[in-house]
Amino acid sequence: MESMTFVLFGATGDLAKRKIFSALYNLYVDQKLPERISIIGLGRRQLSHLDFQEKVKESILTFSRRLEHNASEMGGFLDAFRYSALDVTNSEDYQKLLQVVKQRENELEIKENRMFYLSVSPEFFDIIALNIKESGLGRTNGWKRLMIEKPFGHDLQSARELNDKLSRAFEEEEIYRIDHYLGKPMVQNLEALEFANPVLQSIWNQEHIANVQITASEIVGVEERAGYYDQAGAIRDMVQNHMLQMLMMTAMHLPEKINASEIRNEKRKVMEALRKVKKEEIQSQIVRGQYISGEINDQSVAGYKEEPGVNPSSKTDTFVAARLWIDNPFWAKVPFYIRTGKRMKEKSTRIVIEFKNTLKLHYKDNDQKVEPNLLIIEISPAENVSLQLNSKNPSKNGKIEPVRINFSCEQTGVGVPEAYERLIYDALIGDSTFFAHWKEVELSWEWVQPILEAFEEELLPLYEYQSGSYGPDAANSLLLENGFKWWLDE
Ligand code: BG6
Repeated sequence: MESMTFVLFGATGDLAKRKIFSALYNLYVDQKLPERISIIGLGRRQLSHLDFQEKVKESILTFSRRLEHNASEMGGFLDAFRYSALDVTNSEDYQKLLQVVKQRENELEIKENRMFYLSVSPEFFDIIALNIKESGLGRTNGWKRLMIEKPFGHDLQSARELNDKLSRAFEEEEIYRIDHYLGKPMVQNLEALEFANPVLQSIWNQEHIANVQITASEIVGVEERAGYYDQAGAIRDMVQNHMLQMLMMTAMHLPEKINASEIRNEKRKVMEALRKVKKEEIQSQIVRGQYISGEINDQSVAGYKEEPGVNPSSKTDTFVAARLWIDNPFWAKVPFYIRTGKRMKEKSTRIVIEFKNTLKLHYKDNDQKVEPNLLIIEISPAENVSLQLNSKNPSKNGKIEPVRINFSCEQTGVGVPEAYERLIYDALIGDSTFFAHWKEVELSWEWVQPILEAFEEELLPLYEYQSGSYGPDAANSLLLENGFKWWLDE
């Protein structure tokens, strides 16, 4: 890999501490960083290089998946780090930063390849990009890239404005928008499941599939993030990005060539075909909810409105379910159901594909129920694929019962790279397959925008649901109306 500089904005923040330093360290130990790399951490407060290196080390010892550390390896890694105090709004600080970057480039004989990673509050994204451009940091003889965390905008208009500003400093191919769901192994695996298995490929369409269910349920509540979450709600926090990305990954069609740009093309086509929800139909297609108190794993938990920092009369959604239609020849008749919520019964991200049950009529007369075949893709915390088939149970007089054939793809443990490692590595080598392209982000906001407006105008009810449940009943009715039910709810 070519030598480079990695500039980290927000190096004293939480994400850097929990994820980014460990990811870089693990890449280093796995020899997936360039031999010559300069890593420059930026934050508001003053810190010496040594103090900063000490912080990096502490984070790694606390959060890295590796349990054992070799002192000389750690020393070698920390050597790459320097710190520079920077006020993101002060253009002189960028001049100082440029000097630090250049000095290290000279010392280490590093090419002018520069990665800028923005792990800061979104309100600073545009000012930083502008200053990177104006200070000359972005004028390089090598490549420059920008890695950026969510949220990308607060609605369609702000996302467009942000993108306009970023694109004055970076080309689209230089921007790596992180959606950490795209770093999950089982989300990445969807591509292989669909495209590397002719058997599945041939039934991946409306002729054979009855419906698709995408769930991302969480046990945690709003935690300490009320300030952000109460403005965002589940619709912005999960649906606009992670849920729609999973939808795209599931519904995309086999491209002629399997590579980053073709896959993005296919994902974009899914979003272009996604039927917009008309305002007058929103009530029948979308369900929103907010958790009230309840019990999870025998522990009582408070309702959303009682959470610290939440407005006691908040109308923010902590649960969203929706029925979506993709108007193209592969999926036109297949409902896609999505649901996501906090304080639900279990932590589970999964995709269930229910196949059409054309044989059930054959068994009609002898009281034999035949369940549909299901393909179940568990994304987290379990990582596996299972297929539900029907089989005779000899101990019950040959009664036909569903059985699950389970393919564990479990890849946890100290030896397996985490999402951030995979994503940072991809960005370093310039592979954008598992990053969100602007077109995908824009189309997602376009789909979400009328729903945001309907929420604001209170065009649909905000159902209460008990903590520890599967969300409001209305989310079950969405499926019942089409003769289906959510699979795997206990
Ligand atoms: C984040 C959201 O993007 O994803 C959080 O902001 C949410 O609210 C989290 O808890 C869920 O991620 P994961 O990987 O735990 O499913």
